[in-house]
Amino acid sequence: MNINKIVIIGATSSIAHQTALLFAREGVSFVLAGRNQNRLDACAKDLQARGAKNVSTLIMDAANPSDGKLLFEQSLMTLGEIDLLYIAHGSLTDQARANKDTGYALEEFMVNFNSAVGYAMTFAEYFEKRQMGNIAVLSSVAGDRGRGSNYIYGAAKGGLSIFLQGLRNRLAKSGVNVLTIKPGFVDTPMTADVPKNPLFAKPEVIAKGIYSAIKNGKDVIYLPWFWRWIMLIVRMVPERIFKKMSL
Ligand SMILES: NC(=O)c1ccc[n+]([C@@H]2O[C@H](COP(=O)([O-])OP(=O)(O)OC[C@H]3O[C@@H](n4cnc5c(N)ncnc54)[C@H](OP(=O)(O)O)[C@@H]3O)[C@@H](O)[C@H]2O)c1
Repeated sequence: MNINKIVIIGATSSIAHQTALLFAREGVSFVLAGRNQNRLDACAKDLQARGAKNVSTLIMDAANPSDGKLLFEQSLMTLGEIDLLYIAHGSLTDQARANKDTGYALEEFMVNFNSAVGYAMTFAEYFEKRQMGNIAVLSSVAGDRGRGSNYIYGAAKGGLSIFLQGLRNRLAKSGVNVLTIKPGFVDTPMTADVPKNPLFAKPEVIAKGIYSAIKNGKDVIYLPWFWRWIMLIVRMVPERIFKKMSL
């Protein structure tokens, strides 16, 4: 599958940047969207040094995603056409705080769910009319089952996975591929405060899996692969037992 023009939302994410580096080798052009100009500039410089053709940056804020249409229009104007929308931004919710602060819980939902839905819907119309294209979105294994320790983040990612399933069902008829990416633990700034365990993977490893899944037009991937089986077991635990577990 030829992918020459890519828009990345949340382009400063470690996983997104490692994925972008793999595409950069092929002389791809990018629009990088994020909320921090200095970090975007650093990513752009790195991608150019690794072979990217053209790299532009745009400011966006997933906490206030009304900028979606503008983001799409500016991306299209810059690139001329778009082959891949890659949505990567996200925030690991502080569940203890969310339990006491509903406003914060809803803000987290905005960043992890509403904004991604809004951006994907805006670009979907373009791809549908063009009868081709790719949308790849970072969801999470956390969305496969609600757990007391992270159910606001988990619910947002679970909702996102269901949304992407529906979007895939709609866009498949127009030759547009929608990829749901479900990583397990990844060693990035987002998990800096999470105690490390042997299941943690490097973002470079996750990026290779994402790159190959996009190229091969996959629908849903667990990364690393073993999370598919871990989550199958987790989903199979009866609710009457699961609700008593501290997870
Ligand atoms: N790390 C994991 O264990 C793991 C596991 C499963 C899924 N994921 C998902 O993978 C994706 C990428 O995360 P990562 O691991 O690569 O972590 P990361 O390097 O910390 O990246 C998080 C990204 O989200 C952006 N972001 C957060 N809030 C934002 C907002 N309000 N507006 C715009 N951008 C915002 C950050 O921007 P700044 O650079 O400006 O902070 C950063 O680019 C996320 O969707 C995450 O939920 C991660």
